[in-house]
Amino acid sequence: MLNIKSRPRRLRKNSSVRDLVAQTELRASQLVLPLFLKEGKGVIESIKTLPGISRFSIDTALSQIEKSMELGIISFALFPAIENSKKTPSAEEAFNSSGLNQRGIIAIKKAFPEVVLFTDVALDPYNSDGHDGLVQSGEILNDESVEILKKMALAQAEAGTDFVACSDMMDGRIGAIRQSLDAKGFQKTGILSYSAKYASNFYGPFRDALSSAPKMGDKKTYQMDYRNRKEALRELRLDLSEGADIVMVKPALSYLDIISDFKRHSSVPVAAYNVSGEYAMVKLAAEKNLLNEDAAIAEILTSILRAGADLIFTYHGMRAAEIIKEKGRLC
Ligand code: PBG
Repeated sequence: MLNIKSRPRRLRKNSSVRDLVAQTELRASQLVLPLFLKEGKGVIESIKTLPGISRFSIDTALSQIEKSMELGIISFALFPAIENSKKTPSAEEAFNSSGLNQRGIIAIKKAFPEVVLFTDVALDPYNSDGHDGLVQSGEILNDESVEILKKMALAQAEAGTDFVACSDMMDGRIGAIRQSLDAKGFQKTGILSYSAKYASNFYGPFRDALSSAPKMGDKKTYQMDYRNRKEALRELRLDLSEGADIVMVKPALSYLDIISDFKRHSSVPVAAYNVSGEYAMVKLAAEKNLLNEDAAIAEILTSILRAGADLIFTYHGMRAAEIIKEKGRLC
């Protein structure tokens, strides 16, 4: 026999002991479910690259929200699929008070006032160039884009969103949006900042869902370079000093180190976005029986939480909440 005092396996000997000392457990209320909106009535349109996820018209989105709430999900992130004919170089539809997104917010908050809504602030679904900011001679303009983003955030605040979710990565936008919201009396509207949003290869299916892929070039002059870690802390400090209420790391799985850094360096809640490409990989592997889908979802979401996330945006939300409801726990 080995003469060793410490045998960590004593704490793993059976499931009761493992449960006793388990350090991480996900609640359904920590999940944020992304919802893709589309014009029309009675629409539930599946998205080829996101198996199991659909675009909803506002009426069917309300039923989806009701179903999710029965499973304990209370937070939703809206992403409107804008008709091509409404996309323009200066993205005016983004701040149309009767545009799809704003009508969606109004209808959802009216039907379910207790729901927490996150609405995206970035121009890509509205911009005929498919970029998060305005494009001029191939360049993504910063300060001019922020002026439009301010209008967009105001339109969403007026419609009654809980948090504007700034995913655009323009410099200075958090402070500018906070000021303009406050100047119009929207002190209670929160800001979630996608503080460390990386130029990632894992956004493909999302861009497909919204037909929002950039028409030219890539997003590397505004989204972060995945070789960089310290730079995320710089973005974090700026956003905190400019008034962000929640800070986000995106994507999640290749960026657990960044989530951990955010947890350590901020006292506001940290969100993580388990993005479309990360979701699609699991769905496709499960379809081919390469892994057990439920077990993979549990491991993925738990590891994002363990790294330091307080809330998780994920397309696995419904299934995860179902498991929690059925078993009383995710793992
Ligand atoms: C757009 C936006 C993107 C996502 C959320 N907001 C795509 C992008 O930046 O190109 C991606 C979400 C996902 O892949 O699930 N500002």
